[in-house]
Amino acid sequence: MALKKETNIFERNKISVPAFKPWISSEDKKSIMNTLKKTMLTLGPNIETFEENFAKFTGSKYAIAVSSCTAALHISALALGIGKGDEVIMPDLTFIADANAIMATGAKPRIVDIDSNYSISLDSIKQNITKKTKAIIPVHIYGKATNMKELVEFANSKDLMIIEDCAHALDTFYNKKHVGNYGLVGCFSFYPTKNITTAEGGMIITNTKRIAEQLKSLRNHGMDKSLSSRYNDKRPWIFDVKTPGLNYRLDEIRSALGISQLKRIHKITSLRKKAAKYYTNNLKVNGIITPKILNDKSHSYHLYTIRVTKDYGISRNKLFEIFKKHGIRTTVYWQPLHKFSAYKNFALKKHIQNSLKIYDEILSLPLYPNIPTSHQNIVIDCIKKHQS
Ligand SMILES: Cc1ncc(COP(=O)(O)O)c(C=O)c1O
Repeated sequence: MALKKETNIFERNKISVPAFKPWISSEDKKSIMNTLKKTMLTLGPNIETFEENFAKFTGSKYAIAVSSCTAALHISALALGIGKGDEVIMPDLTFIADANAIMATGAKPRIVDIDSNYSISLDSIKQNITKKTKAIIPVHIYGKATNMKELVEFANSKDLMIIEDCAHALDTFYNKKHVGNYGLVGCFSFYPTKNITTAEGGMIITNTKRIAEQLKSLRNHGMDKSLSSRYNDKRPWIFDVKTPGLNYRLDEIRSALGISQLKRIHKITSLRKKAAKYYTNNLKVNGIITPKILNDKSHSYHLYTIRVTKDYGISRNKLFEIFKKHGIRTTVYWQPLHKFSAYKNFALKKHIQNSLKIYDEILSLPLYPNIPTSHQNIVIDCIKKHQS
């Protein structure tokens, strides 16, 4: 029996101000069409070029392209030897992929609180460490760098590994070093809303050769030889699998799109920052807390998330409804992990008090590189008009 067809929600509803629009340039389209003319549609030259360019941009030694950030998180944890009997600490306010990827290894997530910057709380990590803790996943949420100095110092003192979730944080730097280089691995997403997109896709960066080699094998069924080396050898079907892997490859078409998008990352970030600055300069409204505009590279403004506090007069949910009525698409990133049935037993309520409070107040406004100022003005006017 066929499953029910999903209607395109973006076209069905009347939206006058969309939350985002992917930016696919004519150069992007050309690079996709050129790839479609080639024989090698997967594991060809594009994935290698994308990896080389990404490693260069982030200043890391190795980059391994995969089919999503979820896949990146999953095989990163596998490559670090995380599995049954282990615990991995992660913040309550993050996307479900972090918890799902850890569960898929057989390990268990341990959900902790966030601080007032929405980053993982070091105090809460300290309260939740057990003998089973193997790693910590800091999330550079909304594009803002987590305080990696104190986190790395702490992790080193306890012999814990760090897997950085950089899904939002391409072009985000912490102390002049691109995020993702502080942990053993850094995982990026190229989902359509992200800072660059390949429709679906992800990348892992690492500075450790052994981990890079293991990741390349894990994303390709666990094979110990690359496609080209197999065909350069006498018998291409002869290869070994020491550790079983998966098919998490990024194909040549998506890699071509990634190469093309990465070329304009500086432009993308500067347009995002300009739009974020416009909101912050024009949203001086009692009870609305706006993100600070930082004049360094520690925030790439992937999302523009405000807090709707009591002083505003109406609740976050009410403001969301008003936006919806006016055709303005906003949303909450995200329901905290402990709210999901699968994860309700992985957090202690007393340890996630900030997350609980902040969750009721956050709302992400429309933001993307080419957002028209007229759309931002509609959002700003709506917030100002409905204050009570
Ligand atoms: C913080 C965070 N981590 C991981 C992911 C998973 O990324 P992907 O959709 O590429 O698997 C997302 C996706 O939205 C995310 O926001």
